[in-house]
Amino acid sequence: MLFLILSSCFSVKAQLNIIPAPVSTDMMFGNFKFNSNTKIVLVDDVDEKNKAEVLFFNEWLQNYYGYKLELINYTKNQKNLIYINSVKNESEKYEFQIKPEQIVIKAKGEGLKNAFESLKQLIFDTYQQHEAILPACYISDSARFEWRGMHLDVCRHFFSKDEVKKYIDLISMYKMNVFHWHLTDDQGWRIEIKKYPMLTQKGAWRKGSMIGHYTDHKFDTLRYGGFYTQQDIKEVVAYAASKHVTIIPEIEMPGHALAALAAYPELACNDGPFEVEKKWGVFDDVFCPKPETFEFLENVLLEVMSLFPGQFIHIGGDECPKTRWKKCSHCQKLIKEKGLKDEHELQSYFIQTIEKFLTKHQKKIIGWDEILEGGLPPQAAVMSWRGTEGGIAAAKQHHEVVMTPGSHCYFDHYQGHPAVEPLAIGGFTPLEKVYHFNPVPEALNENERSFILGAQGNLWTEYLTSFDAVCYNALPRMAAISEVVWSPEQNKDLTGFLKRTKKHLKYLNFNKIPHSESLYNITYKVKTDSSTYKTYLYLNNVLFENNANDSTDLIMLLAGSRATQTYKEPIMITSSFHGGAQYFTAGKPFGKYCGIDIYYHKGLGKKITFTEPPSTYYNKGNLLDGMRGYAPRINEEWLAWTGKDMEATIDLKRIDTLSAVTIGCLKNETDWIYLPHKIELYTSADNNTFTPITTPPNITSTKDRYSYSYTFKPTPGRYVKVKVYCAPLIPAEKNGAGNRPWLFVDEIEIN
Ligand code: ACM
Ligand code: ZN
Repeated sequence: MLFLILSSCFSVKAQLNIIPAPVSTDMMFGNFKFNSNTKIVLVDDVDEKNKAEVLFFNEWLQNYYGYKLELINYTKNQKNLIYINSVKNESEKYEFQIKPEQIVIKAKGEGLKNAFESLKQLIFDTYQQHEAILPACYISDSARFEWRGMHLDVCRHFFSKDEVKKYIDLISMYKMNVFHWHLTDDQGWRIEIKKYPMLTQKGAWRKGSMIGHYTDHKFDTLRYGGFYTQQDIKEVVAYAASKHVTIIPEIEMPGHALAALAAYPELACNDGPFEVEKKWGVFDDVFCPKPETFEFLENVLLEVMSLFPGQFIHIGGDECPKTRWKKCSHCQKLIKEKGLKDEHELQSYFIQTIEKFLTKHQKKIIGWDEILEGGLPPQAAVMSWRGTEGGIAAAKQHHEVVMTPGSHCYFDHYQGHPAVEPLAIGGFTPLEKVYHFNPVPEALNENERSFILGAQGNLWTEYLTSFDAVCYNALPRMAAISEVVWSPEQNKDLTGFLKRTKKHLKYLNFNKIPHSESLYNITYKVKTDSSTYKTYLYLNNVLFENNANDSTDLIMLLAGSRATQTYKEPIMITSSFHGGAQYFTAGKPFGKYCGIDIYYHKGLGKKITFTEPPSTYYNKGNLLDGMRGYAPRINEEWLAWTGKDMEATIDLKRIDTLSAVTIGCLKNETDWIYLPHKIELYTSADNNTFTPITTPPNITSTKDRYSYSYTFKPTPGRYVKVKVYCAPLIPAEKNGAGNRPWLFVDEIEIN
């Protein structure tokens, strides 16, 4: 009796290991012993929806613990029961009480699925020997946003219907509810359309793919492709419904249309012929807005609508070059006839025509934020990907918005240092960055905020050639986005999230789901004490930085042939250092071994001033920290200028003997990054009279990083001035022809 009183009077706030974090959790005293004798009571046994969820839960138990729970009708005086009380209306909400004698869940359908997802994580977390000792608690849970999505591009690489189902399982596991299926693009058309069989006979297959990174410009010659029959689609849609996930199909228009044009060239502005594209990127050949094109797209959409019961159809709308439209007599005539200002308004006319058609069929359109250009169709929702600005503009016009800015929601970006991660498109979007995303921008007022439906993570698959790679890139970032869209903003707590994620990675292992463990990776910073000018190497890790490490965790330094040692404090740099470090928990390594090269030189940590500041896009780097910019991928070590020269003056703080200077530059002409056309180097004792170094440099390169090494007669000096001249305008025939190139520099080594 006393126990019961205590358990109802005292409750403590605590974090259970559940992702996404529930809205409210109250811990009670005691625990419930969950084991193979636990029985499930469906109080309202006519609720078919709840029965289905119980079967899914039992399937999971069977798969991973080797037993199922018995389903019984209520009998008095029984213990070790899970009661499931249905509620009137189905929603994502659930209530859940673990008491020592029973677990009571109040939910229906989707809500019950969500309750079981929480329960599964708790069972895993507390399982010892033959039972889980579940802590007594009360959870009341519901979602912050109605659109909790994940996107998957099946065009750049194709994933089978069974793999797509596994992806839907992940979405559902994280209490998310939207699967944005990117079904058509330049590199493949992936959905059978009965009226237009060539779309999949021809448009689903390409004659090769890019290998390595885009910038390598290498291809294989293997026929590649695949598509889903309408039967497959029906199966996947039904499967998703059983997991409470709505599928939003994306049929791209007017751009990213090459696979369709390869099948039906008459829909383009010119005669073609067109091929399903092997290369990644944005292509000039797009749908021409002529009557046959609209007839084709409307017929396609009729079949699409008949397959996907959701309210929204995604029509793409992004990255549509206007090159062909500018030269096409039909397009130009249409612009005049409709009184349009330009090709941007023609794009808007295109989208508006499709929107009218979909509205007539009681569907809503959603498109990438380019559909704002030239005017939004009246009912269109906007998916904001080029930052949040498009979403803000749309919400201000009272249009619905899904936030998915590249900076936080593109899971094709690197999640750790490119040196230790599989090849990715670029970018840097680690777990904590995703977690910090808030889909509701400050710039919106109360009313405008109500137009933000939610957010989603996007997974473009140019570099994801297998489903394991898809999972690796998605996870655990999906855990972070699930918390962004599910958990209340005021509950945000990075430390708590990281601690739960560590446990969650074990849960992913247990469920045999591939994922990244890059949160264990070590990062490096070099900092100089501004009073002593002593320079130190700091080893960091997101768990340590946020107090999310366990007491037995440590960072182990592995210094080449030197004995390993535990990293305890910043290391003073007095010589070059080539080694690495790794995270250890209870003596076992986690994450990857992360290498570090420090090139000691006289300029280390000294003062540098620039005549012209670097571009705000690439201004985090440090040219005097002993760490050379990474190549061929760009990381934050580099400083860059666009179309401008770099002039830097370094003050060594005292006269020293100088005999060598090495400057590192990056070359990546596909990305508009050019080597300098000239470098000038000067030394000075007084920052007034500068003596030029006239010996030519010795130029060496590794992986697109070029070193310009000057050696000269030992000269006394305190100041070094380096002028690195940006290359002239990008020549014809090159990517970005006629534009000013980028100049990337790191590091300046002075000896
Ligand atoms: C996009 O990433 N092109 C929407
Ligand atoms: Zn045209």
